[in-house]
Amino acid sequence: MMKNIVIITGASSGIGQEFALQMDTAFSNIDEFWLIARREDRLLELAQVMEHATRLITMDVSDEYAMDDFEQLLEESDVTVRMLINAAGFGLLGAFEDIPLEEQTEMLYVNCEALTKMTYITLPYMARGSRIIQMASSAAFLPQPDFAVYAATKSYVLSLSRALNAELRYRGIYVTAVCPGPVYTEFFDIAEQYGNTLAVKKLVMITAEKCVSTALRASYHKRDMAVPGIPMKAFLLATKLLPQEGILRILAMLQ
Ligand SMILES: NC(=O)c1ccc[n+]([C@@H]2O[C@H](COP(=O)([O-])OP(=O)(O)OC[C@H]3O[C@@H](n4cnc5c(N)ncnc54)[C@H](OP(=O)(O)O)[C@@H]3O)[C@@H](O)[C@H]2O)c1
Repeated sequence: MMKNIVIITGASSGIGQEFALQMDTAFSNIDEFWLIARREDRLLELAQVMEHATRLITMDVSDEYAMDDFEQLLEESDVTVRMLINAAGFGLLGAFEDIPLEEQTEMLYVNCEALTKMTYITLPYMARGSRIIQMASSAAFLPQPDFAVYAATKSYVLSLSRALNAELRYRGIYVTAVCPGPVYTEFFDIAEQYGNTLAVKKLVMITAEKCVSTALRASYHKRDMAVPGIPMKAFLLATKLLPQEGILRILAMLQ
């Protein structure tokens, strides 16, 4: 029998995990949650506290063979993807020249390439009313010195998502790019290996709960963007009103 499913990448931690928990409580018409990440123990812990049935998929989303296997799995399963949440991602703070190239390109693979492939692969299994939520970032609003590659990957995610939202409207599929500022998660354990977060950013941190509830509301209302919290809404406005060159110079000075 055909199953209605939700697919969440990056479900082992932070925002992806929070999506699973909030949707587990709020969504009654879902048969199975497909939870994706590399750390199986974390996925198991999450599955144990969820009411819904789960399918745990331990994979590295930047591994093209694993992605082929995932495509095969979808092909063999009788499913409709009601929601895809691409939350797998990471960032590295620090000077462009100081971060090893391999790690910078890994950011491109995980944040951009894998997200694009996952979206492409799952689209044929979506129906009218299906939703896609892509984790972008407020880093997408403006180039960011000392967060250069990460910010560029998130600009890609925002641009792709908004274009797809317009493009897929004819199928009744809605895409929301989520653009939070800093969120309390393990993100910064990885991000701060080569540099530090600006002190001012720590002042405007929000919880994963707030980020996810804002994102789900925006997705429900078919909005192409979700910007959680007043400080990031103000930041977005500032990037539109003020000369970007000036903001960039200030950001570089603060770093
Ligand atoms: N926290 C923030 O301040 C913030 C702000 C704006 C946007 N975001 C974005 O929100 C998303 C979620 O971040 P988070 O804050 O929840 O960070 P997090 O707690 O570090 O979670 C990142 C998730 O991505 C998964 N992941 C990373 N690389 C992967 C790979 N190669 N294959 C499969 N899964 C992978 C991790 O799982 P495994 O390690 O188990 O594979 C983990 O579940 C990211 O796209 C991030 O850029 C975060």
